[in-house]
Amino acid sequence: MANQQIKNERMEAIVSLAKRRGFIYQGSDVYGGLSGTWDYGPLGVTLKRNIMQLWWKMFVDSRDDMYGVDAAILMNQKVWQASGHVDTFTDPLVEDMETKQRFRADHLLKDAGYSVDGLTLAEMTKLIQDNDVKSPNGNALSDVRTFNMMFTTTVGPVADDKSISYLRPETAQGIFTNFRNVVDAFYPDLPFGIAQQGKAFRNEISPRDFVFRSREFEQMEIEYFVHPEKWAESFEALLKDTHDFLTALGLPAENVHELEVPENDRAHYSKRTIDIEFDFPIGREELMGIAYRTDFDLSNIQRVAGKSMDYSVKGTNEKFIPHVIEPSFGVERALMAVLSSAYTEDEVNGDKRIVMKFPAHLAPVKYCVSPLLKNKPELVAKAREVYELLKKKHGNVMWDDNGNIGKRYRRQDEIGTPYCVVIDFDTIENDGLVSVRDRDTTEQKRISIEELIG
Ligand code: GLY
Repeated sequence: MANQQIKNERMEAIVSLAKRRGFIYQGSDVYGGLSGTWDYGPLGVTLKRNIMQLWWKMFVDSRDDMYGVDAAILMNQKVWQASGHVDTFTDPLVEDMETKQRFRADHLLKDAGYSVDGLTLAEMTKLIQDNDVKSPNGNALSDVRTFNMMFTTTVGPVADDKSISYLRPETAQGIFTNFRNVVDAFYPDLPFGIAQQGKAFRNEISPRDFVFRSREFEQMEIEYFVHPEKWAESFEALLKDTHDFLTALGLPAENVHELEVPENDRAHYSKRTIDIEFDFPIGREELMGIAYRTDFDLSNIQRVAGKSMDYSVKGTNEKFIPHVIEPSFGVERALMAVLSSAYTEDEVNGDKRIVMKFPAHLAPVKYCVSPLLKNKPELVAKAREVYELLKKKHGNVMWDDNGNIGKRYRRQDEIGTPYCVVIDFDTIENDGLVSVRDRDTTEQKRISIEELIG
């Protein structure tokens, strides 16, 4: 698995299950992989979409203060000049003096047991030299320097300075650049938010820890526009909404932690940031962040584009550039938190089993339907009927008639299917009831087909 450091057995077990059962594969695997890229298989894409749809439902569809957009990934280069990303969207880099391999200086230092919070490049270089910190290959390291993480490309037939563009490193700018459009079309009252989901790209120096730090990933972001004097109350409200979403993802509250990010560790645009950290199998790491971006972005757009970003309060003469609270999620990190919370090893009747205890609303397969025996046409016909009914209603329903029933249950447990429905001889000869087995308790109930479908 190209260049990924899998730090412990639980993480290894999850990565292996994700590949074996069709959730997540290394990108370009057949050609030896492309580091920092991942492909989603049939179950992974459904799980990821379920997470994204839940977010959209909770933060956009169920509210009347949110507007959705879907902006282009390629944007005018001025966007990234004005936003500060061309100058400051950097990570600290060191080079192995022998192999010329590059590493993130802060990661190497942290792995070697040093705290790097708030250190300048020069201070990191000194720490490396004073303590003779080596590269993972055992060689001496260069001085620490900055490395811009944006992927550069050119747009159009002529490659010159004017045609330079970037694969967006955050979806946020596609929201800010549409602020005026949304205000002019919808006249929303403050506070209101604009939400976007979509791909973002960062040329990470050392992608690692499965999908946690990838070069191509997906974001779910909101820019919430507020009166400059009222930012604190919206910050608190969005923090609470975020916790509600994490609960709906099934993440145990005891594994979720708030970190008030100190000033010297905040992004260049933020006056206050709270990171929500999660106890992943790789350790406690950032799951998402909420930042108070002030009027940094809208003011920059107004200055560079020369267009007013003022908001006029209806019925008054009051005009100002709104301030912004930004809850920003990485989808893959949410997905990794869901996978690691769901992954369970237990015993059923003395046999070890692996079971993914996804909340039912996130499970990629909702029901599995089986005939007790696959060589009995009358059982198969009835099971097919139930399967079609459930599939029409829920979509994600699986048919499985392979092997014995115990093996089918184990296969479904491994992909987190909440319910397995079995049609047996009693169903067709006696009571018309089907057996429904619960993934978590393994208990079976007999219920009517009407009750099941209803
Ligand atoms: N928009 C904030 C971030 O991408 O980190």
